[in-house]
Amino acid sequence: CSYLKEKTRGEICETLCNGLSRQEYRGYDSAGFAVDGDKPGEVLYFKEVGKVAGLRKKVAESDMDTKKTFITQCSIAHTRWATHGPPSVRNCHPVRSDPDNEFCLVHNGIVTNAAELRLVLQKRGYKFESDTDTEAVAILTKYVYDSQPEKRMSFTELVRTVLMELQGSFAFVFKSRHYPNELVTARRGSPLLIGVKTDKKLKVDFVDVEFGDASASAPPTVTSPQSPSSLLAPPVPGSSSKVYRTQSRAFMSEDGIPQPIEFFIASDAAAIVEHTKRVLYLEDDDIAHISEGELHIHRLRSKEEGSQSVATTRSIETLEIEIAEIMKGKFDHFMQKEIYEQPESVVNTMRGRVNFDSHQITLGGLKAYLPIIRRGRRIVFCACGTSYHSAIATRAIFEELTEIPVSVELASDFLDRKTPIFRDDVCVFVSQSGETADTILALRYCLERGALCVGVVNTVGSTISRETHCGIHINAGPEVGVASTKAYTSQYIALLMMALQLSEDRISLLERRKQIIDGLHALPGQIKKVLDNDKNLRVLAKNVLANSRSLLIMGRGYQYATCLEGALKIKEISYMHSEGILAGELKHGPLALIDENMPVIIIMTRDSLYPKVQSAFAQITARKAQPIVLCNDDDDSVPDNAKVIRVPPTVDCLQGLLNVIPLQLLSYHLAIQNGFDVDFPRNLAKSVTTE
Ligand code: G6P
Repeated sequence: CSYLKEKTRGEICETLCNGLSRQEYRGYDSAGFAVDGDKPGEVLYFKEVGKVAGLRKKVAESDMDTKKTFITQCSIAHTRWATHGPPSVRNCHPVRSDPDNEFCLVHNGIVTNAAELRLVLQKRGYKFESDTDTEAVAILTKYVYDSQPEKRMSFTELVRTVLMELQGSFAFVFKSRHYPNELVTARRGSPLLIGVKTDKKLKVDFVDVEFGDASASAPPTVTSPQSPSSLLAPPVPGSSSKVYRTQSRAFMSEDGIPQPIEFFIASDAAAIVEHTKRVLYLEDDDIAHISEGELHIHRLRSKEEGSQSVATTRSIETLEIEIAEIMKGKFDHFMQKEIYEQPESVVNTMRGRVNFDSHQITLGGLKAYLPIIRRGRRIVFCACGTSYHSAIATRAIFEELTEIPVSVELASDFLDRKTPIFRDDVCVFVSQSGETADTILALRYCLERGALCVGVVNTVGSTISRETHCGIHINAGPEVGVASTKAYTSQYIALLMMALQLSEDRISLLERRKQIIDGLHALPGQIKKVLDNDKNLRVLAKNVLANSRSLLIMGRGYQYATCLEGALKIKEISYMHSEGILAGELKHGPLALIDENMPVIIIMTRDSLYPKVQSAFAQITARKAQPIVLCNDDDDSVPDNAKVIRVPPTVDCLQGLLNVIPLQLLSYHLAIQNGFDVDFPRNLAKSVTTE
């Protein structure tokens, strides 16, 4: 959205497409945008299934006038990951309320009462052209607009009235021919930020928040065909909605002299960082209105209605992310780059926190909370996907060092079970993005029950990092590949550091702690050694595994998490069935799968369970399996004819950090050899912001 800044339509399209490309890593199946047309109120849409490159092609082939200039303009764009309705041009965003484009919008998240809204609106004669939940919101906006006889509602008030009717999670941007050169954006449950770019210094670096007027609109009601929402019910005679006034601070025009300014609204800083590093994060139930170079922020509800705990200003922060950090550099794929970054990313996780001389750990973000954590009755790790595996990987060492019982929960299952949580529980939420919907919901569930909530997050400023009481940023740098790699090793180390810090007073553990911290010191060099094996792994993938339909990965103890994570990588990007198997469970079922055709990787690095894994090895070779053995460099007990992957030995609880890397590389090569899109695997998203 730009004000008094002359731009051609071509430049505007380019900015939108670039922003979408920067968000590609989140995973998506289609993309689209809307820009102003030649006549007032006209909107041009471009939509395409598949990559942003396809969308660019469509734009290039169109006959739109790219030279037409705009002094002030508002445009919106979106990458979609299908929730309601298959990926198709008709389900692509931006979504409009009607062929005249009275309202058009983009939406992240899911509106859970969209089906009910749709039914009620259809009964009132409104026509739908897509399967999306978003369209119900667009049409509802038109309905509210149509229902007011004098059409005097401000754009903000209109959106506010609509939002009161919605259930679910969302981040929206609204555009309308009735409110030219205005945008309204709002969030609940989905991330949203606004970048601000001006040539002049900002007059103030915050925006005051205006709380909603309690009487302006009825409270939200459950919308169902049987009980229509307050809006869709017949009007009560004599009732009218109050005009909702904008009073929040307009911080953009210094001394009343208008100055050129641009606003970039996005769900992720990566989309806008090339334009500005000055950003403001919106909170849940914030409604921001942008017009004539001014930004106003409103709350959906009044203080009396429950907004009192929310801050009354939103400050403008300066981002530290560099654009170069999200580029591929010399690598073919982001995933490959991220695997190769691990010698540095693990150092970044430990930087300033681990003193290798004094064997001390200092986690600034936890310091004030350590006594509470130590007094905690139990620790509950909660996460999804790879982040969940990092919690499994560190559970044993956490219990050993802290002597506090640890349970590990998949966020969705944790919520499904309505797990009992108490005030003396310590709940740790592990998330690369900090935006995974299930993990956020689990966090809010624990906050409501008074538990201490700790975040272990990669993305600074993300919802989880803001809503937890304290935490650790893993500092792995932006992770773009949908399949998580460097975040796993950094989460593992962050959790380990937490356990080490919690146990710093235990004299009996002095030697053990020293051994682990020395192990951490050697780790970056050892990761480099593992990466040197890449060529052999490529050959192994090609010669042994490329044509397999399935792959079992077996191990026990510390290596169980490695098995699960390795199998997840294989599934995610090479689309091959793969299963991580606890070797202790072999006899209870998986052994039935074993024959000469079933490829098996067995993780047999040396630790206290080594003899037991050797016996599992014997059991599967007796059933004619020809396993690939992942073992230590110096292990000469492995039969000569076995295929081996060798890794340097380290401390038992750190070995998983080295063992997982060959599996990451194997999955990468398998996917490449089968011609799959490594960074954007089908059907998957980097950041799953819907339940
Ligand atoms: C998605 C991603 C995974 C990730 C998981 C949890 O499934 O594809 O790579 O591990 O979400 O994400 P988080 O950002 O919470 O770690």
